[in-house]
Amino acid sequence: MHRLAIRADLLDFTGAPAWGSTDLSGVRWRPDHWLLIEGERIAGALPGAQPPGEDWRLDDQRGRLLMPGFIDTHVHCPQLDVIASHGTGLLDWLETYTFPAERRFADPTVAAEGAARFLDALLAHGTTAAVVFPTVHAVSADTLFAAAAQRGMRLITGKVLMDRHAPDGLRDAPHDQGAEAERACEALIQRWHGQGRNAYAVTVRFAVTSTPQQLAMAGALLARHAGLYMQTHVAENRDEVRWVAELFPQARSYLDVYDQAGLLNERAVLAHGIWLDAQDRARLRDRGAQIAFCPSSNLFLGSGLFEWPAAIAAGHKVSLATDVGGGTSLSMLRTAAEAYKVVALQGSQVGSPLSAWTALHAATLGAAQGLGLSHEMGHLGAGALADLVLWDWAVGPVATHRDAVALGQVAGLPAQDLHARVFAWMLLGDERNLRQTYVAGRLSHERGRHGPQFATLL
Ligand code: GUN
Ligand code: ZN
Repeated sequence: MHRLAIRADLLDFTGAPAWGSTDLSGVRWRPDHWLLIEGERIAGALPGAQPPGEDWRLDDQRGRLLMPGFIDTHVHCPQLDVIASHGTGLLDWLETYTFPAERRFADPTVAAEGAARFLDALLAHGTTAAVVFPTVHAVSADTLFAAAAQRGMRLITGKVLMDRHAPDGLRDAPHDQGAEAERACEALIQRWHGQGRNAYAVTVRFAVTSTPQQLAMAGALLARHAGLYMQTHVAENRDEVRWVAELFPQARSYLDVYDQAGLLNERAVLAHGIWLDAQDRARLRDRGAQIAFCPSSNLFLGSGLFEWPAAIAAGHKVSLATDVGGGTSLSMLRTAAEAYKVVALQGSQVGSPLSAWTALHAATLGAAQGLGLSHEMGHLGAGALADLVLWDWAVGPVATHRDAVALGQVAGLPAQDLHARVFAWMLLGDERNLRQTYVAGRLSHERGRHGPQFATLL
């Protein structure tokens, strides 16, 4: 078995940091340590002065930061084609940019190339696992699963369900009571769910684009197959919320539409959740479902400000997600920085500002726990798969100077605590800080080396 030890500053989490806390509760900080990797898995760690024996390959990356790979809990593969499209809110943006781009993914070649480009881009941004929307076309889910299996990545996805309020070429057939879409889901579940690190998610785009019959079919799939995930969008935009109220007059709320269809459980990931009330939040908690907070998308599409502290007070799970192409970057660091600003905009009514610890925990261990996958990923503990990212603390003169201030290396300014240093890294850093990405112990991306041909077994 391959044995690799990487020397760096190790940062991960052992529990959820308290909201607003900048001390080290929940934080595992092991500066200048060797992380030991045996085959696919993390085997332990040793202080920098005590390297492991001769049968280990040593990679001395002293002065760099080694963390678990980020987990993006909501992102759209086909939307790399529309990222950074100008000037509209959600519903118009879908119609003008997104639906036309998604139609291309009916073509197996487009779908396969799109899947490869997308997963390699995730790795290049430090994301090693993701919950992903493909398109309505079964081939778009099939090619994503195949590409993830090739890379050894943890992927949760499923064919998008939409049978109304979408253009030709993007709708499931309505003529057979949805049997065709159901058969397509069943075939994908049989083929991919539980194969390696792939898992199937029943994927309802949002309540607007599914008939009540299709929502019932989605609920039946979840009831029939234990262990499936569910992903959708909820309460993102006020026009959307109004439309859902018109379409489902008998539902108490937007969230209630999904609950009545049996879609909410502990493996449900609902993007956004901006326009929820206290009863909805309590329902999320009771069902064990999580909200994927997508700050860059929420700002870019003008959707609104997610109230993270209210979610914490209600006790439901929150993870962090890019929502590209509504979001404007695949970088979870940039996304965390946007999350900080969204909380800041809500001012003193939310109490403390967002800490780097809460944001980074949500993007690693918190996400893994929320998905029921912390035995596998999200931390640097022994036994986990070695999904790792090696980062530079600073790139460029401004960030380098700021890091020196944090370290107390600038005359006249006192050294700062670890949280202050990590916070500055989180706010100033992005994919340019990334040196290497490992997936299950395999070096999968290295700065300056690109492409699917680059997959070197250690
Ligand atoms: N709601 C329904 N579809 C989408 C989508 O593709 N992106 C976002 N941000 N919201 C949605
Ligand atoms: Zn989305």
